[in-house]
Amino acid sequence: MISRTFHCITFGCQMNVNDSDWLTRSLIARGFTPVPPDRSGEAEIYIINTCSVRDKPEQKVYSEIGRIRSMTNDDPAVLVCVGGCVAQQVGRKLFRRFSQVRLVFGADGIAQAPAAIEKLAGKRSLRISLLDFEEQYTEREQAWPDAVPDAAPDAANGTADAANVQMRGRQAPSAFVSIMQGCDNFCTYCIVPYVRGRQKSREPEAVLDECRAWLARGAREITLLGQNVNSFGQDGGGGGMSFTQLLYRVAELPGLARLRFVTPHPKDLAPELITAFGELPVLAPRLHLPLQSGSDRILERMGRKYDRARYMDIVNSLRAVRPGIHLSTDIIVGFPGETEEDFLETLHCMQDVGFMGSFSFVYSDRPGTRASLFTDKIDRAVALERLARLQDWQYNYAWEQLRGLTGEIVDVLLEEPSPKPQEGEIIWQGKEPRGHSVNVRLTGPEPEGGWMGAIVPTRITAAAMHSLRGEQL
Ligand code: 5AD
Ligand code: SF4
Repeated sequence: MISRTFHCITFGCQMNVNDSDWLTRSLIARGFTPVPPDRSGEAEIYIINTCSVRDKPEQKVYSEIGRIRSMTNDDPAVLVCVGGCVAQQVGRKLFRRFSQVRLVFGADGIAQAPAAIEKLAGKRSLRISLLDFEEQYTEREQAWPDAVPDAAPDAANGTADAANVQMRGRQAPSAFVSIMQGCDNFCTYCIVPYVRGRQKSREPEAVLDECRAWLARGAREITLLGQNVNSFGQDGGGGGMSFTQLLYRVAELPGLARLRFVTPHPKDLAPELITAFGELPVLAPRLHLPLQSGSDRILERMGRKYDRARYMDIVNSLRAVRPGIHLSTDIIVGFPGETEEDFLETLHCMQDVGFMGSFSFVYSDRPGTRASLFTDKIDRAVALERLARLQDWQYNYAWEQLRGLTGEIVDVLLEEPSPKPQEGEIIWQGKEPRGHSVNVRLTGPEPEGGWMGAIVPTRITAAAMHSLRGEQL
């Protein structure tokens, strides 16, 4: 075992990834060391940041704790910390079930987690639970170690490994900044309001300060994060500012090349936000806007508070001010009561919009939600068959659209060297403005600050299934 070392395992959404990144930085600043990925079994402290939005989240967490237990021979010196939505749900019961678990923390408790870990690392008999919800957004200590980890979820198993990071030094070109916690919408299928609490908007000055700090460290792109970003301020927090006003303030920060945000809700999508896409060149021409269903009847039962016509209206207005904007979405199939007609309305709506990408899921019951009490559940085999049809369309459509980008000239923000460079070639991965990954063959002289974070004009030469290839111009 290596002393004062930790290994962080992350499930779930971008917000969890961002929380784990922060926790990692904060522990490094306190003198802890992330273990190298190939020695993850040798850590002294394990942090599991959990998600309960879908699937069988508790089972996943239990099997992860079991894996750690057998990897470490149930060593009582090992500290296991469980955070996030499952920790909020299961709480202190985890202590009884697993002796190595000595810290549980929820969405609001994470701010105190680094200090708690420090205490627990020195005292084996101690157990700490940080499960209270706060009334206001809890500011966290900022930690800026030279090495900024970037943990991206692993597509294959939905986990991100914060120790499995590439240390990017001071030049991380892409930063994520949280602007709120929680959600007030109570969509009937969703557990988020119960496990992450009511919506709490962050103070705009704190958001702007964090953005400035990232830009000073070499970030060129900022993504504002929240469960419902465009409902910012509606909870009484946020210093009386609306989301669009905040967006304009961030957009004018010097050094910012690209601005993104996830996730907006169609019901609160103000006309001014659409105008912003026409007025702010720095706002990336890409929007992830969850549709969930294309059937008005199902949208109503989901409690989404918009209908298909309103959604299409947003899409058309956006395209009028920003032609060529790429849209992506979230879809739930097999929601209770969904008929074949309802499903076809979803599919046709997706085709009408022409989403470049979608995350689609089979409905799953979440404890305590209204939809879990609905009695007209859909047979799983039927739901899976619908999901397959939908994903099949999406795959083919996205592929066709990606191939159509060949020949275009785009600015690529370089993020990291390509993992599979060709002999004698310099190839870097990056993102073009709509968020597609591009592997660029670099032919020009290396800029003074290095390739990372450079924005290079690129001609797209080919499309592969998950990325594009290009040549620097
Ligand atoms: N079942 C299936 N999918 C769900 N999502 C949220 N709750 C559920 C559920 N109970 C999906 C929604 C949401 C995304 C993050 O997860 O599509 O936008
Ligand atoms: Fe869940 Fe709806 Fe809130 Fe999104 S808006 S987190 S789906 S309750």
